[in-house]
Amino acid sequence: MAEPLWRWEALLAATGGAVAGDSPDGVSGISIDSRTLAPGDLFVAIKGDRLDGHAYVEAAFARGAVAALVARSALAQIPPQVGPLIVVDDTLAGLEAIARAARERSGARVIAVTGSVGKTGTKEALRHCFAAFGPTHAAEKSYNNHWGVPLTLARLAQSARFGIFEIGMNHAGEITPLSRMVRPHVALVTTVAPVHIGHFPSLDAIAEAKAEIFAGLAADGVAILNRDNAYFDLLAARAREAGAGRIIGFGSDDRAEARLLDAAFKEDGSQFEADILGTIVKARLAAPGRHLVENALGVLAAVAAEGCDVAVAAACLADLTPPEGRGARTTFETPDGPILLIDESYNANPASMRAALAVLGQVPRSRFGRRLAVLGDMLELGAAARELHEALRDPILAAGVDKVYACGPHMARVYEALPEAQRGAYAATAEELAPLVLEAVRAGDAVMLKGSLASRIGPIVAALKERLAGRGGDP
Ligand SMILES: Nc1ncnc2c1ncn2[C@@H]1O[C@H](COP(=O)(O)OP(=O)(O)OP(=O)(O)O)[C@@H](O)[C@H]1O
Ligand SMILES: [Mg+2]
Repeated sequence: MAEPLWRWEALLAATGGAVAGDSPDGVSGISIDSRTLAPGDLFVAIKGDRLDGHAYVEAAFARGAVAALVARSALAQIPPQVGPLIVVDDTLAGLEAIARAARERSGARVIAVTGSVGKTGTKEALRHCFAAFGPTHAAEKSYNNHWGVPLTLARLAQSARFGIFEIGMNHAGEITPLSRMVRPHVALVTTVAPVHIGHFPSLDAIAEAKAEIFAGLAADGVAILNRDNAYFDLLAARAREAGAGRIIGFGSDDRAEARLLDAAFKEDGSQFEADILGTIVKARLAAPGRHLVENALGVLAAVAAEGCDVAVAAACLADLTPPEGRGARTTFETPDGPILLIDESYNANPASMRAALAVLGQVPRSRFGRRLAVLGDMLELGAAARELHEALRDPILAAGVDKVYACGPHMARVYEALPEAQRGAYAATAEELAPLVLEAVRAGDAVMLKGSLASRIGPIVAALKERLAGRGGDP
């Protein structure tokens, strides 16, 4: 067996747990989900909001787990002799302990990303770029919360040279403990925008919560901040207070050290030239949108801060494609012409909604005569919801959207505020809207679909794809 991710003794030392059953040599991975567990993993039974992992211990062993980390209080519900167990009082605390041990033993350079939007995309870009310079570890998904971050850190192999961590939050105070666990050498804040503002008294409070990323910043660590964002000064001040050795701004602002010099934003991607801490680089992104160029400047700043070759990293950016539901594009060729689907159904907030509308506005009329936007509610905006929804009217019109198909109580306001000509259809729910969208889409359309996950735009995307693929693309 290759060197295991964790030797058994190290897991016992980290968790302080008691052993029940045999002692394996070690584990090759860590999992909290019996459905995706890989043979050789340690299964950590976590009690979540809906499910309790302790009900799946047997299933985990059946899939090839070599051991499980379980709570003493749950022992009665675990079949006897099911396999080697590490027994602790609290399994999430156990996972956090393994995570801290991973950080302790690691020689990796650690980069943490937070921000109101773009964390996962930026994490992926960092992973992709840093992989050119050495073994790079990052979560395969948007694991950014109280279990996602410790899980990702606990999976950090000792051989990794770079570790990339996404840290998110819905409420004040959530990032601090995660940052202290990850202890980043470089902390990158993509931007501050009104996302989850329903949980906050103000946008200032959101900025302060993002600044918690500096709580665990390594001594003389680097803060990478959006120079064009109104909260640059506040974040820079907080980073300095936390002991940051260097603050790097990225953006278009003249004072940005990672500065955009020139850019061409096209329908199928962007090209740009930037000055990254004194090195001039040219880069190409395969996905369109100014927002992705901004994120890329932050990524290149992180590469430069780590002393790696920014030209090499810039070349790596060219083959990144957007993750599912975050701008992934599919073109269906039909006998009467193409149909472009832009899938933004993973989530929505005022910042990403504007970015997605702007991208739709870049689709060339020569190829796609009509622009359709299928929009669901942006959630978690609290008292600001009405105003933030109504404010979408202008970006919709600015993007030259021809027809809007809307659902949900908040989008009703946007819909009603639109000129008659731009109104495609409105329905109370996504389920009711779906058939209207399927009926409306025709050859020559570019369709962008976006809403908060819970507004269920995803199923409309799936239905549309099935329809277009199933009928040979002839809608
Ligand atoms: N800098 C940006 N400004 C505006 N929108 C952005 C920016 N970066 C990414 N987006 C858009 O925001 C959406 C979400 O991107 P991503 O999943 O990377 O964000 P996230 O911060 O990880 O979200 P979550 O909080 O759900 O984990 C995508 O549709 C993407 O196109
Ligand atoms: Mg994410």
